[in-house]
Amino acid sequence: MITQNTSSTMETGIDKISFYTAQYYIDMKTLADVRGVDRDKYYVGIGQERMSVAPPDEDVITLAASAAKPLLEGINPSDIELLLFATETGIDQSKAAGIYVHRLLGLSHRCRVVELKQACYSCTAGLQMARSLLAAHPDKKALIIASDVARYELDSPGEATQGCAAIAMLVSANPRIMAIDEESGYYTEDVMDFWRPNYRDEALVDGKFSTKQYIATLEHTWKQYQEQTGRSFGDFKHFCYHVPFSKMAEKAHQRLARANNVKLTPELFEQQIGRSLIYNRITGNSYTASLYVGLTSLLDSTEEDLGNQRIGLFSYGSGCVAEFFSGVVIPGYKDHLLSSNHLNILDNRAELTYQQYEDIYHFGVPKDGGDHSFPLYKTGPYRLAGIKDHKRLYETVS
Ligand code: HMG
Repeated sequence: MITQNTSSTMETGIDKISFYTAQYYIDMKTLADVRGVDRDKYYVGIGQERMSVAPPDEDVITLAASAAKPLLEGINPSDIELLLFATETGIDQSKAAGIYVHRLLGLSHRCRVVELKQACYSCTAGLQMARSLLAAHPDKKALIIASDVARYELDSPGEATQGCAAIAMLVSANPRIMAIDEESGYYTEDVMDFWRPNYRDEALVDGKFSTKQYIATLEHTWKQYQEQTGRSFGDFKHFCYHVPFSKMAEKAHQRLARANNVKLTPELFEQQIGRSLIYNRITGNSYTASLYVGLTSLLDSTEEDLGNQRIGLFSYGSGCVAEFFSGVVIPGYKDHLLSSNHLNILDNRAELTYQQYEDIYHFGVPKDGGDHSFPLYKTGPYRLAGIKDHKRLYETVS
């Protein structure tokens, strides 16, 4: 049974949601062949088929601005008084990445812009913070952006779980896509399962430990959520998880079902999480964005009307902070989805050879302090043109 939002306060949540990923990918079969690994290890064991690869002139700023641009159509940009940018692919220790996006999008100067960090979790923190602001100022809107490029060492176990994408969400009162429920379970513990010290470009990870930590925090947060809401597993027809690789979300869902004494038939399993994994399976990990890529995938690819259905959402960020929360899909939401944009982006990506992937991997952003122009690759409406006087130069492409 689907229960309604019991809160007496006004509904707040996702008014619009937009996804963007880089225009290049490598097929996991190509990577498997070069690494001498059975192709099914990546396709089945990890559950990834393709991995988005950001070229040298695409970074978290251009990914983010490209995701956010379609959200501005039909709204007054000066209504956006808060921009929260969630990332763990920071480009500067001081200046918030969101300020570049704020300029590229032409937002009003009367706007607070802050960057948020807590591994893959911080977009969820941003969403919840924005809801508090909107409760006090229901006439305003917040723009919440998650943008990341997941990067591990070449030929390491993490390599097959790289990827990149951005999600931008317009968050408002009386939202048109999803009202977020008040209640949630959340959990913090100081663990070293995945981290990236300032002097490194690649994450360090205790891979197997990280997967155990992910599952343990799911159990903690679900228990808290249940105690608060009285809802049970059966109250949800669909779940979306943080997706570092799709097999992780599948294992998490099996564990949650078992903990609730629910026997998952293959049909029920597919119905509950299958469509939420379609986009992640072909883009790879996008850290902060990945849970919301999953939500977009579910909304875009489900033919059945999800209106009035409650969706379970699990956010995990290594280190670690986790949250289980939920939202109810708003009737009529399909009229406000950007599904055809998303499919266009995914369908028009160019496939890389292994050598092209490795060349891009090694390009990096120069650290010599000199002036550089970046080669022209296929990007969205914005690109990173170069660096001059230690400043990144962004340009509009179309
Ligand atoms: P690995 O060494 O590839 O592990 O590392 P594996 O050898 O155990 O293989 C993985 C699976 O493939 C296994 O299945 C194998 O049996 C299977 P499982 O036992 O797990 O069910 N397999 C095959 N299946 C079919 N055909 C075959 C075949 N061969 C093997 N031929 C690991 C895997 C996840 C540890 C690694 O990829 C890694 O370190 N990834 C990065 C860390 C990560 O993603 N952790 C997830 C939880 S933490 C998190 O989500 C946060 C994060 O997003 C960061 C943040 O918060 O910012 C990462």
